[in-house]
Amino acid sequence: MRNAAPLLAVHDLHVDFDTPAGPVAAVSGVSFEIEPNETVALVGESGSGKSVTALAMMRLLGRGATLRGQITCDGRDITGLTEKQMRSVRGRAMTMIFQDPMSSLDPLYSVGNQLVETVRLHNRMSRARAVERATELLDQVGIADPRGRLRAYPHQLSGGQRQRVMIALALACSPRLLIADEPTTALDVTIEAQILELIRGLQREYRMSLLLVTHDMAVVAEMADRVVVMYAGQVVESGAAEQILRQPQHPYTTALFQCIPTPVTDRSAALTAIPGAVPSPHELPPGCRFHPRCAVAFDRCVTGQVPLFPLDGGARHSRCWLSGDAASGRADRTVVTSASVPGPARRRR
Ligand SMILES: Nc1ncnc2c1ncn2[C@@H]1O[C@H](COP(=O)(O)OP(=O)(O)OP(=O)(O)O)[C@@H](O)[C@H]1O
Ligand SMILES: [Mg+2]
Repeated sequence: MRNAAPLLAVHDLHVDFDTPAGPVAAVSGVSFEIEPNETVALVGESGSGKSVTALAMMRLLGRGATLRGQITCDGRDITGLTEKQMRSVRGRAMTMIFQDPMSSLDPLYSVGNQLVETVRLHNRMSRARAVERATELLDQVGIADPRGRLRAYPHQLSGGQRQRVMIALALACSPRLLIADEPTTALDVTIEAQILELIRGLQREYRMSLLLVTHDMAVVAEMADRVVVMYAGQVVESGAAEQILRQPQHPYTTALFQCIPTPVTDRSAALTAIPGAVPSPHELPPGCRFHPRCAVAFDRCVTGQVPLFPLDGGARHSRCWLSGDAASGRADRTVVTSASVPGPARRRR
């Protein structure tokens, strides 16, 4: 049941980048909400706009990026905030962990130094108390000998340990929303499972919402309450995880689920399972952006924009002429591609 006010709401987000070849639209009209304590998975293949969306939420896009739309945090639009005002939103309201922990850890400072600084930035407390809190955080994220590890430098830690330190740094701010951008992609499968389990446990304990950016559908099945599927800068499907996993509406979602790695498939191989590639923002196809790769595309998909159709009374959405009620009257369609992506399960009803 979704009845709480959203903690975070993204409404009609557009992100354009200035490039030598002219402006490109990396994100085009993305909307979704995250409620308190909820885990939302943001999924899609490489280049679909997941990181740009996450960075936009943190207002970390940097120069050359133009952002339009609304991002409200606790009802307050943060798109117009100054960098100084944003600094208090980052941390307290939301914080982000990245795929590569070295990009956020400073190699010149010890783990303890960075943790104590972050703890003191967000909480008024003595240095001695902050050291205690830093030790406690390292312990909570599963670092053995936390007191001793305070003196370690990032390069002295393993990849999994660094990711744990990143999580400790994120927790030091007591954020209400944790944005985790592919937090385990660089780790091996055993460590990945441990880190995801850790994030899940801490999410409950700290009562945080989680935006989990991933292209791993097995992780989605394990962790998510709701799923937002992105393709070529747009949301193509969204809804409750359980429903989307059971009955995907968009041919792209169906195809992504067929990429769930099994113990015998190699993950990198699984990610290339959909024929073709996400179009670059420089060369977006007209009509449905997925149509050149879609086995069930028909004449209408090639020209006009496809709206995001509300389904199940608005509980879920799909940007496909063939989903739900939008599918009625489509029986006369003329298939226009020979791609091998199957259509949504729904149509077999
Ligand atoms: N600073 C930038 N300047 C120009 N284009 C950019 C910039 N950052 C991202 N893009 C483009 O925006 C699109 C979306 O990129 P994004 O990093 O969000 O993809 P992603 O879904 O996170 O992919 P991955 O799974 O590989 O991390 C890509 O085509 C990318 O090349
Ligand atoms: Mg990314």
